[in-house]
Amino acid sequence: MKYNITLLPGDGIGPETIAQAKRVLLAIGEKFGHEFNFKEELIGGAAIDATGDPLPQETVDSCLSSQAVLLGSVGGPKWDDCPRRPEAALLGIRKAMNVYANLRPAKLYPSLTHFSPLKDEKIKNGVDIIIVRELTGGIYFGDRGYRNNKTFGREAYDTESYSELEIERVARIAYEIAEKRQNKLCLVDKANVLESSRLWRKIVTDINEDYPTVQVSEMFVDNAAMQLCLDPTQFDVIVTSNMFGDILSDLSAAIVGSIGLAPSASVGETGLGLYEAIHGSAPTLAGKNVCNPAGTILSAALMLRHSLNAEKEASAIENAVASAIECGFGTQDISSMKQSTSEFTDEIISRIKV
Ligand code: IPM
Ligand code: MG
Repeated sequence: MKYNITLLPGDGIGPETIAQAKRVLLAIGEKFGHEFNFKEELIGGAAIDATGDPLPQETVDSCLSSQAVLLGSVGGPKWDDCPRRPEAALLGIRKAMNVYANLRPAKLYPSLTHFSPLKDEKIKNGVDIIIVRELTGGIYFGDRGYRNNKTFGREAYDTESYSELEIERVARIAYEIAEKRQNKLCLVDKANVLESSRLWRKIVTDINEDYPTVQVSEMFVDNAAMQLCLDPTQFDVIVTSNMFGDILSDLSAAIVGSIGLAPSASVGETGLGLYEAIHGSAPTLAGKNVCNPAGTILSAALMLRHSLNAEKEASAIENAVASAIECGFGTQDISSMKQSTSEFTDEIISRIKV
């Protein structure tokens, strides 16, 4: 097969993790007889420096005409005071591609148990969670701005709002994922306070009849944070809003050992998907060949599975990463061997080739 992929290296460690993921994909191409046609485009701070615009139209056009997009990371202190920050490009490309469901798996590798901040007894039965985060709505995209408040001075506001359609479409994806797993779906919200959360509850409950095998539960987000720490094994699939999903997915990534390992897939109505590690641009690690490339490499695996319909190729990457980790290899965040970014990737590639 021939695949057209847009690569968006971005900022910080993004260019390094993308370079390694590209090597892994080329190894997959060689092994399985596929041709990858990569197009690299600018995004984030790199795009601001080159064009003044964090999300140039050319980048958007390239993404929309590809089969899938693999993104590194965006942002850094250099651009913190820009009128249009690099992060705006990330939100912009998610919106432009209409990838409203962000799948964030958190799975514990048995050999990494000691890298988890949780005690052994809490995770001895394994952790295997998928957070389905709504990605193109809510407070990230709601009405915002400044308004005058005569008594208290300047006032800034952001709005959380969700339409029925926005909730239903992401909830259906979460149900479908739950059906293929343990049939357990937990809606995380703040329905004791927020009107929008109450609409989430109504819709998620209403459409449960279309997925009769799935058992739905509801949990307030504060309790969910606590429960993830006290007993992460109780969760299978979590569905939640954009901001709650952002917060809880960092927590679930830390629980399984390192945020450097956590991939994500953002999907919508069509096969076109956006794939990115959930870690940020980690400016302090950038350019040193020390960051963990696994988050982006595992995102490339999700890309093969969800956008390119290449399941055995996806599994080949996941098995190679798991095997390298189980053998003790890894970067400083997950291994006492403290391998460099490229050395760890070499280990992964050598396992794909066999
Ligand atoms: C993430 C990141 C982004 C988000 C930032 C960089 C805008 O934290 O993908 O989790 O909040 O969505
Ligand atoms: Mg985040």
